[in-house]
Formats: sequence, C-alpha cells, structure tokens
Amino acid sequence: MQEIKVELTQNPKQKPADESKLGFGKIFTDHMYIMEYNPEKGWHNPRVEPYHAISLEPSAMVFHYGQEMFEGMKAYKTEDGRILLFRPDKNIERANNSNRRLCIPEIPAEDFLNGLKKLVEVDQDWIPTQPGTSLYIRPFVIATDPFLGVRPSDTYLFMIILSPSGAYYESGLDPVKIWIEDDYVRAVRGGIGEAKTGGNYVASLKAQVKAHDEGYSQVLWLDGVERKYIEEVGAMNIFFKINGKVVTPVLNGSILPGVTRASCIDLCRHWGLEVEERRISVDELVAAAKDGSLEECWGSGTAAVISPVGHLRFEDSVMQIGGGGIGPVSQKLYDTVTGIQTGKLEDTLGWTVRV
Ligand code: COI
Repeated sequence: MQEIKVELTQNPKQKPADESKLGFGKIFTDHMYIMEYNPEKGWHNPRVEPYHAISLEPSAMVFHYGQEMFEGMKAYKTEDGRILLFRPDKNIERANNSNRRLCIPEIPAEDFLNGLKKLVEVDQDWIPTQPGTSLYIRPFVIATDPFLGVRPSDTYLFMIILSPSGAYYESGLDPVKIWIEDDYVRAVRGGIGEAKTGGNYVASLKAQVKAHDEGYSQVLWLDGVERKYIEEVGAMNIFFKINGKVVTPVLNGSILPGVTRASCIDLCRHWGLEVEERRISVDELVAAAKDGSLEECWGSGTAAVISPVGHLRFEDSVMQIGGGGIGPVSQKLYDTVTGIQTGKLEDTLGWTVRV
C-alpha cells in the first residue's frame, strides 16, 4: 500500500447551513484525492489535495472517446460519532470490473480503500447527519493521453470527490413515476451496459428528456436486443413484488450490478421472502398490473437508496402501483438499509467499514 501525501486547504469553504436543502451532487467539500497512472510507474503518487480544477490538454482522450469509469458510494456519521462506509469492497470490485471492460488499468484495492478512507477522514466535518442525508462519494478515472487515434490511453488520473447530499429524487420517499422506453435503448448484448461509465448515461439522456417532458422522473429501459425484457432505470436497478414474490431482472451483461441491488436481494431472502432473478417481460408486467398481482415496485441504488415507484407507463398502458404510497417491503428495505448505513441498526451482516 502506498503512502498518501496530504495537503490541507488554507481556504476552507463555508459548510452548508441547512442540511434540508442540500439536494444531490451540487456542493463539493474542501479536498479531493488524486492518483496517477503511467506504464512505467503504474498507479502512483497518491495524494489528498485542496479541491481544485484540473488542467488537461484539449486532446486528452477522455474528451474524445469517453474512456472513463466512475463509482458511487456514501459515508455516514453515526450518533456516537463513528464514520461508516457501506460495502466499499463491492464498489471497488465493481470499479475494477468496469476498468477491465474499458481497458483501464486496475487500481490496487488497498490503495483505493486507503485513499477513500483518508479523504473522508480529512473532510469528515462535511458529513451531514440529518435523516436522508449522507456524504456522497464519487471515485472516477479518466484517460489523459493527448492523442486522437482510437486505442486505450497509456496515462490516467484517478480522483475521488465528495458531495454532501440529500435524496436523489426531489420527491424523497414519495413514489416516483417511471416511463418504460419503447424506442431508444441504453445498452446492447456484448456492449458496456454492466460497466459504470459515462457512455451508458449519455445514451440515456435523450429518452430521459422525453420522459421529463411528459412528467416522469426517470426511464425504465428494455433490453436492446428483443426490446421486450425489463433491464434497469436510469439511476437505479428495479424490483417488483408480483404475487408475493420479489422479482428483479437477472444480470445479463447489460445491466449494472448494483451494490444496493445485491443488498436488497440478500435482505429479502434473509427475511424469508422468495426472490427471483429472472427475465421479466414488459407484457408480464402490464398483465400483472391489470390483474392486481403487481403489489409493489421500487428502485435501488447508491444515490437513490430505495425509491418506491408508484406509476409506470408503457405505450398506452398506465400502471398505478400500491395506491400512491410506499409499500411494506420497500419501506422495510429502506429502514433496514439506511439503519445499517447510519449505525442505528446493528450490522449483523458485516456490511459497514469504519473510517
Ligand atoms: C449512484 O447511485 O451512485 C450512481 O452513480 C447513479 C448516478 C446516476 C447518480
């Protein structure tokens, strides 16, 4: 593990006075973490520095071919002052899976975790504590070679920035409206759908704008091959409760393997609920909504946590779910996941890591 140099800011920023108005991803803390890669030295020179703009050549490869990976994680402060990360090993493993898919050199897990802990420790006074808030963590890698040919870059920057945040959706825990997209697709078989990279998110924008204009919060994607099977929502994985069973799309290579998704599956099974990871056709969903067997629907994600879905639309079919409120399984998952994350519930599953 490499030693991290720390340079503290001489000009600390004003911290947000009202934690109920944080929003998501708008405010950034005093420091950032940086590490560099070149073929001679590998990943090297890890440091915590005052948060600052970075300077890159306009020819840097990330600007042209999008070779970049990012992650999303959160830190929490418990009532007795401990700082907790939620399953960081899972995010680090996923980051390196994305790196491999995107031809980015893997980051040594211990340097990743050490850098993350050091940065959160330095900026710990920025961790909000009001219910529903957390310190959102955004690790990312960008390709920096100044070159316009298409090939993997030789040089990279790995950075981590922090953002004290509230709920991802303005509606908080009120159920959101989701548009099932029948025209554009997000990812295809053999593509980069399961990697966490900007390309998947830019691919989602056109449909998201269309859905927003129609009064919907997000888009639920169908598979890019048959355009028939449910995949994931723009910023979260999706779950349904149909006929008493919890059902979620099976990971098929074009769906992001969410850490909160895996945690929901583990918790539901732990509570004795039957969980099926399988293909779910949109026709099955429309039929289940019609005959009343679609009991609940929620999304899961680091930023979204557990977000109940109260309304789905596919072509001319409008599906109202759960009478406009949060369902019992979604509520229990929200309470349990946030309870473990914030140290209010005992972490019997060993998911939290102390900074
Ligand atoms: C996260 O949940 O951390 C994500 O990266 C999703 C992002 C679109 C906010």
